[in-house]
Amino acid sequence: MNGIETSILDRIGGTPLVRLRRMPGSGAADVLAKCEQMNPGGSVKDRPALRMMQDAIADGRLTEGKILIDSTSGNTGVAYSLVGAALGYRVQLVMPKNVTKARKDITQAFGTELIFSDPMEGSDGAIRLVRQIVAENPDKYFYPDQYSNPSNPLSHYHGTGVEILSALGDRITHFVTSLGTSGTMMGTTRRLHEHSRRVYCVAAEPAEALHGLEGLKHMASSIVPQIYDPELPDEIMPINTEDGWDMSDRVAAEEGLPVGHSTGANIFAAVKIAEQLHKQQGGGCVVTIACDRSDRYFSPIKWEKRYIW
Ligand SMILES: Cc1ncc(COP(=O)(O)O)c(C=O)c1O
Repeated sequence: MNGIETSILDRIGGTPLVRLRRMPGSGAADVLAKCEQMNPGGSVKDRPALRMMQDAIADGRLTEGKILIDSTSGNTGVAYSLVGAALGYRVQLVMPKNVTKARKDITQAFGTELIFSDPMEGSDGAIRLVRQIVAENPDKYFYPDQYSNPSNPLSHYHGTGVEILSALGDRITHFVTSLGTSGTMMGTTRRLHEHSRRVYCVAAEPAEALHGLEGLKHMASSIVPQIYDPELPDEIMPINTEDGWDMSDRVAAEEGLPVGHSTGANIFAAVKIAEQLHKQQGGGCVVTIACDRSDRYFSPIKWEKRYIW
C-alpha cells in the first residue's frame, strides 16, 4: 500500500547522498556523503547483517529455531539485533564484559541475549569464545562471521555501489571509505570499477596500530579479514585518529551532520582528495560513506548528565 512499508527492513538501503558545502576543497570538487547512519539500525552495518541473514535463510544455513550468534559489541551487533527481531530469530552476542553499559543496553533492548567473555582478553577473547560455543553445538547456531562472509561485501556491491551509480552516473570521479571488515570498501569498489568511466577508489585506514577510530582496522597489525583483497583499492590512505575525531566534530558543527569518528576519518580523506583536485585545477565528485551517528560514542556519564539530571 502506498506510504506503508511491509517491514522496517524495507527501510535498509536507499540512503541519501548529501553534499558537504563548507569543507575545504568543496568549492572545486563535489564532496558527497552517502548517509548510511540513516539506516534504521543507525549504521552502515544494517546492509550486511540483512544480506548475511537473507542469504543464509535462502540456502538453509539459517533455519527456524537456530540462534544467530557472533562476537561484536559494535554496529554489527545492533544490526543483527534489529534484523533478528524483525525476522523472528533469536540473537546472542558475545562481547567482553567491560564494554560500556550503553552498548549492552542498546542490543538488549531488541531482546538480544548477551554472553560475556573475559575482559582481559579483549575482542580476540570474544572471538575465541564464540568459536568454542559454536564448535560445541554446531547445529544449534548460525555463525555469520562477517570477516569471512561474502554476503557482507555483496550487500554493498548490489546496494551501496548500485545506488551511488544510479544517483551520479558518470559524474562520480572518486570514492573513499575506511576499512573495518572491509565489506563496504570491497563491495562498493567492485561495483564502481565495473562502471564504464573510471572511478578512482581509495581505502582509508588508521595510520597507527594503536588508534581511536572505532570499527576500523590497521591491516598490517591485525588479523586480516578473509574478504579483504589488498589489490582492489587504487590507493591506501593512512589517517590519524585526531584528524578523524576533529573532522567528526567539524561536520556536526558546520554541516549539521552528527557522525562518528570513522565517518570523520572518511570525510577527512574525501576532503584531502578534493583539495588535491583543487591544486591540480581539476574538478571532480568525491563520494564517501557516513558510517554511523555521533551518539554511539557519547560516554554514558555524558548521556546521563544531559538527559536524566
Ligand atoms: C563505525 C564503523 N565505521 C566503519 C566500519 C567499517 O565498515 P566495514 O566493516 O564495511 O569495513 C565499521 C564496521 O564495523 C564501523 O562499525
